[in-house]
Amino acid sequence: MSDEKTSNAMWGGRFAAGPDAIMEAINASIGFDKRMARQDIEGSRAHAAMLAKQGIITDSDAQAIREGLLTVLSEIESGDFEFSTALEDIHMNVESRLKEIIGEPAGRLHTGRSRNDQVATDFKLWVRDQLDAAISGLNALIDVLLDQAEAGADLVMPGFTHLQTAQPVTWGHHMMAYVEMFARDKSRMSDARVRMNECPLGAVALAGTSFPIDREMTGASLGFDRPSANSLDAVSDRDFALEFLSVASICATHLSRFAEELVIWSSAQFRFVTLSDRFSTGSSIMPQKKNPDAAELIRAKVGRINGSLVGLLTVMKGLPLAYSKDMQEDKEQVFDAADSLMLAMAAMEGMIADMVPNKASLESAAASGFSTATDLADWLVRALDMPFRDAHHVTGALVKLAEDAGIDLPDLSLEQLQSVCADIKPEVYKILGVYNSVASRASYGGTAPAQVRAQIARWRKETG
Ligand code: ARG
Repeated sequence: MSDEKTSNAMWGGRFAAGPDAIMEAINASIGFDKRMARQDIEGSRAHAAMLAKQGIITDSDAQAIREGLLTVLSEIESGDFEFSTALEDIHMNVESRLKEIIGEPAGRLHTGRSRNDQVATDFKLWVRDQLDAAISGLNALIDVLLDQAEAGADLVMPGFTHLQTAQPVTWGHHMMAYVEMFARDKSRMSDARVRMNECPLGAVALAGTSFPIDREMTGASLGFDRPSANSLDAVSDRDFALEFLSVASICATHLSRFAEELVIWSSAQFRFVTLSDRFSTGSSIMPQKKNPDAAELIRAKVGRINGSLVGLLTVMKGLPLAYSKDMQEDKEQVFDAADSLMLAMAAMEGMIADMVPNKASLESAAASGFSTATDLADWLVRALDMPFRDAHHVTGALVKLAEDAGIDLPDLSLEQLQSVCADIKPEVYKILGVYNSVASRASYGGTAPAQVRAQIARWRKETG
């Protein structure tokens, strides 16, 4: 399967023959790493400026390189650039085109640099952009959740444990639970960003360089906080990608849990919420159907994102220091996870902004399933000074009575209530209502509308 190609122009000095076609296919990353063109060019422009400032190349060469690189970038961005698989990756594609445009000075760009520190830098810049984009996406998501929470701060709905009716809660409280989750995701993304913000450029192949480079300068001009302090680590570290995938996985898990709730809530059996036509589809055979496809796909995206995390962890786990070509497998995992996460976040934001809670269904579901049984037990403790364990027992007997009669707790007559506990007074009926129930849970972080409003105000101030 050998072909007649000559050896690689960038590294082929010691090679007599070109690569086998299959070698080229397994080796090339240009098919995907062209997505880092902008970062690659930014990194090269910073490197060239530093080389000139340090007197390693001339100012005029640096200027030709820096301007030529902008031409390459505009060719790539306008779609005019012809990528070559023979040139393997984005780094060599860019440099080779630069040579065609500016000639000899292009060959000086790779002084005091290697593709190993170059790719680590490009990829970090790319991941850093994604963290920033994810943080904005989360801010938008939190905003629409706050709007839903505010509009439905008083709306009652059943709260579940084991997906069995537990106690009434408010719609606003349920929305705010996701605000907490997405805010933690945001904070994890910001933490990851701080930790990753060290510049690998200047680590060169693995050991640093004998050229008098200024790593502070390149790092600062690319927005890094400092140069990475160990060249072996700098070229072989992919923690930043793993951390991005980890936080993306956790965030996708939150999106998926909410998506699952929307699937359940929008079903004919629940009717808790109406999803907009904009984020639903129909069935080609069943005319009545309106399917929550966006929610289902959000729920599914987490599979790809978790898969990417496990994929890259597995790629990295046995690699000796420093760079190994295995690490080229980092990009597709991260690209796919980032695309999936951004899309899932945007779809979720749209679904939440559009969805309409169904007050009547939420209210009647909130009141059914003996949801105020705990309120009754608490009342027995408070009003009759009963030990909680006894109150629990009495309430259990009343639930059984109601269940046998096929009615809910508030429908029991005073005689029925007193048949189990003679001391029960008519005022108990106030306690059995769902609005009273939620209003009474005013402990910090509880479901009472007043608490929910306080949390909304706090988040509005923080994300303002
Ligand atoms: N395309 C490579 C990657 O993504 C670039 C680094 C190649 N370095 C090397 N020594 N072959 O990892």
